[in-house]
Amino acid sequence: MIHSTRPALLRWLAAAALTACCGVLVAYGNVRPADPARVSQSSAPVPHALGSPVISSKAHRDPRMEARISELLRKLTLGQKVAQMIQADIRYVTPEDVKTYRLGSILNGGGAFPANEKHAAVSDWVSLADRFYDASMDSSGGAPAIPIMWGTDAVHGHNNVIGATLFPHNVALGAAHDPDLVQRIGEATAREVAATGIDWTFAPTVAVVRDSRWGRSYEGYSERPDLVREYAGRMVQGLQGTADTPSFLDGNHILATAKHFIGDGGTNHGIDRGNNRSSEQDLLSVHGQGYVAAIQSGVQTVMVSYNSWQGLKVHGQRHLLTDVLKTRMGFDGIVVSDWDGVDEVQGCSKDRCAQAINAGIDVIMVPEQWKAFLQNTVAQVRAGDIPMSRIDDAVTRILRVKSRAGLFEKGRPSSRPLANKAAQIGAPEDRAVAREAVRKSLVLLKNDKCLLPLSPRTNVLVAGDGADNIGKQAGGWTISWQGTGNTNADFPGGTSVFDGIRSAVTAAGGTATLSAEGSYQTKPDVAIVVFGENPYAEWHGDIKSIDYQGPSDDGHEVDMQRPAPEVSAFDEANPKVSEVSHSQAPVAPNADLALLQRLRHSGIPVVAVFLTGRVRGVTPELDASNAFAVAWWPGTEGGGIADVLFRKSNGEVNFPISGKLSYAWPRGGGGSSDSALFPYGYGLGGCIRR
Ligand code: BGC
Ligand code: BGC
Repeated sequence: MIHSTRPALLRWLAAAALTACCGVLVAYGNVRPADPARVSQSSAPVPHALGSPVISSKAHRDPRMEARISELLRKLTLGQKVAQMIQADIRYVTPEDVKTYRLGSILNGGGAFPANEKHAAVSDWVSLADRFYDASMDSSGGAPAIPIMWGTDAVHGHNNVIGATLFPHNVALGAAHDPDLVQRIGEATAREVAATGIDWTFAPTVAVVRDSRWGRSYEGYSERPDLVREYAGRMVQGLQGTADTPSFLDGNHILATAKHFIGDGGTNHGIDRGNNRSSEQDLLSVHGQGYVAAIQSGVQTVMVSYNSWQGLKVHGQRHLLTDVLKTRMGFDGIVVSDWDGVDEVQGCSKDRCAQAINAGIDVIMVPEQWKAFLQNTVAQVRAGDIPMSRIDDAVTRILRVKSRAGLFEKGRPSSRPLANKAAQIGAPEDRAVAREAVRKSLVLLKNDKCLLPLSPRTNVLVAGDGADNIGKQAGGWTISWQGTGNTNADFPGGTSVFDGIRSAVTAAGGTATLSAEGSYQTKPDVAIVVFGENPYAEWHGDIKSIDYQGPSDDGHEVDMQRPAPEVSAFDEANPKVSEVSHSQAPVAPNADLALLQRLRHSGIPVVAVFLTGRVRGVTPELDASNAFAVAWWPGTEGGGIADVLFRKSNGEVNFPISGKLSYAWPRGGGGSSDSALFPYGYGLGGCIRR
């Protein structure tokens, strides 16, 4: 048996954890407490999930279902069982393969579309889902029919699909401090995903982000565990429906995933896939809180994180995956590995990893090497390296989730209630929810002389490279994996920030002139400059300095000078990181700052609208602006920004500016990232009267 190393230490940790319990809100490390207007100040204790199972899921076990599952399990050969545990990417697997090898699930990773066609129609998605489903249900070769499951990264709406409603990223939703809104976003996302015949989303990310230099910071709602916990439960409920009621996983809902278990937001120096050095108590009381609420709401899958905990990759840590998550937290659904995450475990490769399965992983996401992984795993079971009981546990969980999702009864994807309803993609009611989220997440950091909200009966210059650029405002995980390579034409039905400003202003008799570089013939009454980070995802977005230095300091800037993670195999085991280091783009001079300064020096009042996936040091840009609004990465409904920047034409406030930081805003200037310029919970309201 391979299992975890350092058994003595782990035993000690387990014992320490048991005694360290229970029910007290542990101090939040370096985060200062604040009093934001609408953060829920629940006095309920935060369960640590330490000690014996402390979480009770609203998705109860059904004894009849369990009996059917054991019966089906008995009919499966070893190869068929292991095949249920394998998940391949649609770029590397065909329906014919599924028929032959009986794989249990597939995914489309970021940037994977039916037939590699970025502009695939809704019907293309559904018919591919049908073909995979039919293959899984074809029992002509003698194997039992078990419906396949398809997972996708719908992390801010159904973001791989052209025309879908793209919601603000999680960093923005945190600033809205509105759990009800989050649930409605989950519901809308579920409907759009269901329209394409897909069963499962790899969301929400419940990372508690402690260093915003991390390239995935925008996937996290907050630096504070209480907000993440509150949102996680509501997002899961929105996506899956309410457990223990008929809405649970019905035709309007899909399976959710709480990810990435555990500690992804707490790696040393914010390095993606790096090492989290927390004590076990901090790991659970800070980074574990999203899982507590997600499991209570009945989340059916949890994705394992690429990061290490105390120097060992979580993908190989039996203590965390089995003892903590499955036993103490009582999670009875599927633990899925991350994309080739097994490859990161010491002693493993992309095509074999008994350690990960023994640690407690049930579904292995091996997008490309699935066939070898399947064959090697069967051999490892035969050789006694993986106990049969572990395989049976994994397959039982997989069949349980498929049963709860109703996949044995729902029929072909195209026969399901929302399937092929193209109008569901980017539906007006979903866009309305997204626009509301854009309004509620905008945070105002500066508003000299009550400049905002503006009168719409005015002549506005709209400048900056983000002004009319939906790809830039949508951020990472947008159609492509990194969110790069998109133009406005890739967002039918979407609205840029400029589009929204133009409609607000022209309706009131004003004018809006677009000039990215900020040129004008007639001096405008006011300039709105929309600028900020370009899209990125995962390690591509890691940065060395929290200071904003212009859009090109993001994406492809992995700083190899930063201290290496303690896991010595990190760089070697992750060739993609070294690839990135070779393609570092030179840092351009900060043209955004120059633009703000030029307009300001011309005597034009300047409103800065900052598009970003995270908090950044922007003191020079703040100084160069009269008003400074953080719009985060708002997604496709750019109209929500004009909704709050402008008054009604009669001078009344249209929508209040209400967003409050869910991350402390750094002072920057090369100082420590702990030093906050604006605390958690900060955000100005616009002026009611002038
Ligand atoms: C895939 C992504 C995946 C990434 C991980 C990409 O090629 O498209 O979905 O997350 O690889 O390495
Ligand atoms: C990411 C996950 C994602 C998966 C599938 C990985 O690279 O870390 O968040 O769900 O790819 O695309």
